[in-house]
Amino acid sequence: STPCTVRDAEIVVVGSGLAGMTAALALAPRAVTLLTKTDDLPGGSSLYAQGGIAAAIGPGDSPQDHAADTRDAGAGLVDAAMAALLTQDGADRIRALLADGLPFDRDASGAALLGREAAHGAARIVHAGGDATGRTLVLALADRLRATPSVRVEANAFAVDLVMRGNRVCGVLAMHADGWVLHRAPRVILATGGVGAAFARTTNPAEATGDGLALAARAGAALADLEFVQFHPTALDVEADPRPLLTEALRGAGATLRNRAEERFMRTEHPLAELAPRDVVARAIGARIKAGERVFLDLRPALAAKPEGFPTVLAICARHGLDPFAEPVPVAPAAHYHMGGVVTDPDGRTSLDGLWACGEVACTGVHGANRLASNSLLEALVFGGRVARDVAARPLAPLPPFALPTPPAVAAEVGGALLDALTAESRRVLYEGAGLVRDGLGLLAARRKLGRLAAALDTLRGDPTDGAPTPTAVRRWGEARNRLLVGRLIVQAALAREESRGAHCRTDHPLANPALAQPLSRRTHTLTDL
Ligand code: SIN
Repeated sequence: STPCTVRDAEIVVVGSGLAGMTAALALAPRAVTLLTKTDDLPGGSSLYAQGGIAAAIGPGDSPQDHAADTRDAGAGLVDAAMAALLTQDGADRIRALLADGLPFDRDASGAALLGREAAHGAARIVHAGGDATGRTLVLALADRLRATPSVRVEANAFAVDLVMRGNRVCGVLAMHADGWVLHRAPRVILATGGVGAAFARTTNPAEATGDGLALAARAGAALADLEFVQFHPTALDVEADPRPLLTEALRGAGATLRNRAEERFMRTEHPLAELAPRDVVARAIGARIKAGERVFLDLRPALAAKPEGFPTVLAICARHGLDPFAEPVPVAPAAHYHMGGVVTDPDGRTSLDGLWACGEVACTGVHGANRLASNSLLEALVFGGRVARDVAARPLAPLPPFALPTPPAVAAEVGGALLDALTAESRRVLYEGAGLVRDGLGLLAARRKLGRLAAALDTLRGDPTDGAPTPTAVRRWGEARNRLLVGRLIVQAALAREESRGAHCRTDHPLANPALAQPLSRRTHTLTDL
């Protein structure tokens, strides 16, 4: 069978966005192997986060108020204790990063400048580089990580499966540029981000294929809230993959939504108009687009209010030949953030021994049915740090002896055009069947089609005697497999939730059912649900 090199590690982190890098840095000087499937640090969606990080550090604000806004946005499913922890720990962490000299935007006295975003009761959005918050932060952390000798970064390393012995995680099987490697380790941290690239239209980068969620699902971890996928209301409506994000902070600074007749339709949709919760704004835009209209964002009030505030947005518009100073630009909702994920406790522990999860791949219960704007980078910082503390503090029994895993048989050259077509189809089916607005019939059709595509993908599994698959073939096949699995799990969870709540909107069950506002432990799914 295909040979597999064994490398022993103390701790393996999978993923190189804000959560994974935060955990790896906080674990120093303990030895960490960080696997990233991208060419270099950083990877993932954090790099694309524009608006900022929510933290109750301003005068008159409090973590309690921030927690209350987080709970309100989450439509009855937020775990109150977790929200309290996120907002309290979050404020402390942001103060510490400010004191540590991280390049946040500040006033002349050195205090952080605080922006405003939808559904926040106070100006509490810390930002950097105007609207380049994620990029500024993760580039700074990547520099620190490269200078941290205890962290061994393995780039172009695609994690294919967790290696299990019973309920115990014993390592990660990964495809590297030079072949299969088993990273044998008693502690594994998943920080692989979200699932946006499983949908046809997304603000997430191509690597957001739900890898960590799929790995955990195949290993039997408890998963929850998978039906809750947040669509960002204002992705630029151009033929680009991913769809460029036009940050929520624009509306916080006065940008308005308009129909073709230049009317501000959000005023009749919600008392907070453009600053209504994200799901409300996204659905108001989506309904108009479905009716054949186009929707536009008038950036001019925001650009006048904050002339230096939006360099990333201006660069995006220029790249697509649009002049936001001259006229409103077209926008449409796109898959943006997964509230569901691998169930974790306050220290990021999952239901599997030796496995932790942090960042978007985790489901801590802080977001419930709908995440509040700018709580995602905060979550990555807070839970990346908490996971590191717990991992460092927990003595684990040595690994039991176990047989080396057999790498999956992937055709030496997985047929390029066939796989491309299958991937495009699975992304389209998920976007259409389990998108911003769903119904039972559409979900059933999506379930059937995704099941057929999963069977078709299986036929691309090669005969190992064909020769060794290339690393590119394994990654492409593995990402397609993961996209299909997380898509099927999302559809299944969306079918099971016969109500509308937060980001999960079903036209055949338009009301919320109070009986379904259950604690996290009652909302879990496993692979056997498929
Ligand atoms: C944005 O800047 O609108 C995205 C930030 C977020 O998703 O919270």
